[in-house]
Amino acid sequence: MGLQKKDFPELKVFSKLFGAQAEVVVRSPARVNIIGEHTDYNGGFVFPASINRSIRIAAARREDRICRVYSTSFDTTVEFPLDELKKTREWTDYVKGTLKELIAREWPVGGFDVVIGGDLPVASGLSSSAALELGVSACCQVLFDFEIEPWEDIKLARRAENHFVGVNCGIMDQFSIRMGRKGHGLFLDCRSLEYEAVPIPEDELVFVIVDSRVERGLGNTEYHTRQKQCERGRLFFGSINKSLKSLRDVSEDLLIVNREKLDPVVYRRCRHVITENKRVEKAVEALKKPDMKLFGEMMNLSHESCKSDYEVSCRELDILVELARKVPGVLGARMTGAGFGGCTINLVSRNRIDEFQEKVGRLYQSSTGLEPGFIITGAEDGVATRKF
Ligand code: GLA
Repeated sequence: MGLQKKDFPELKVFSKLFGAQAEVVVRSPARVNIIGEHTDYNGGFVFPASINRSIRIAAARREDRICRVYSTSFDTTVEFPLDELKKTREWTDYVKGTLKELIAREWPVGGFDVVIGGDLPVASGLSSSAALELGVSACCQVLFDFEIEPWEDIKLARRAENHFVGVNCGIMDQFSIRMGRKGHGLFLDCRSLEYEAVPIPEDELVFVIVDSRVERGLGNTEYHTRQKQCERGRLFFGSINKSLKSLRDVSEDLLIVNREKLDPVVYRRCRHVITENKRVEKAVEALKKPDMKLFGEMMNLSHESCKSDYEVSCRELDILVELARKVPGVLGARMTGAGFGGCTINLVSRNRIDEFQEKVGRLYQSSTGLEPGFIITGAEDGVATRKF
């Protein structure tokens, strides 16, 4: 079913604020990575899905080349000319970065008024940034009547993040948000960009995302450090065999044989990436059978590797994972996304959801003083638009 006006409170906000009717609405979902962490920028495999939390946008064209952007989360309106997009290190950078990329490719963008809202927690590692970038791109396409091919759209949004915002992210988030398919996880080969939508049996099991409420503070610096460490590993293996173009091509045996030649930290980073790629493949095979117990085991192992080898977890995420695993009916639990805060993803039996929330919620709060947020979700469709 298409988008319904009643599901967009942003429409009322728009008419109140700008004194006119919005012409377009956009729903741009968050993503959760089910398994395959920090593998995308290493040419590896990922298995994300879009979820039932989204950024919602209501917008209308203007006659001039001014943009007025209001955010319900920050309760502020920011105004800027389309031809002078300056970075301010605020949420508007995601909007401006996307516009800059659209203009650079000569897509016919004009001025517009927009309200950005939704029910997506910011800075919780569910990729509100990529959702905003793809949402703005989709909004402009409908408002100004042009159409960008999906992969071009995905790459454009990623460039906005890489160049304007300044985060050297991989392709996973933008891909997942644009291509999301209800009831399916997306198995993506980040090198060839081939992908397969794999059905997730949702009758008995459900994904429960738990927000640690720890914002991803130092995340970006550490993210770039991890990338450099992987690059050192890649260069080493490339120097012993030219056909090893990314860590994806390195086998675990080859890694072990060369252990002494690698810096111990680089060795562990490589081990995470190499074993994580295998886990994604195994998890997808398990899902196809379906063998959800094995799938859950892969999620559990992924967390251990993120924690010990890649060192991107944190105390709060580890506590959430440990508490979750003690609840009956939980098949797997792991941190999700870049790490250093944000969320965990848990594969939980439907009939145990209440018990899960009660136990994890209470015990997490008593050991950290933080109240976690819960999102119960299946896999959802990607970005959607409607013009009135
Ligand atoms: C962030 C990045 C992604 C990916 C993950 C880690 O979400 O934006 O490209 O690297 O971290 O798997």
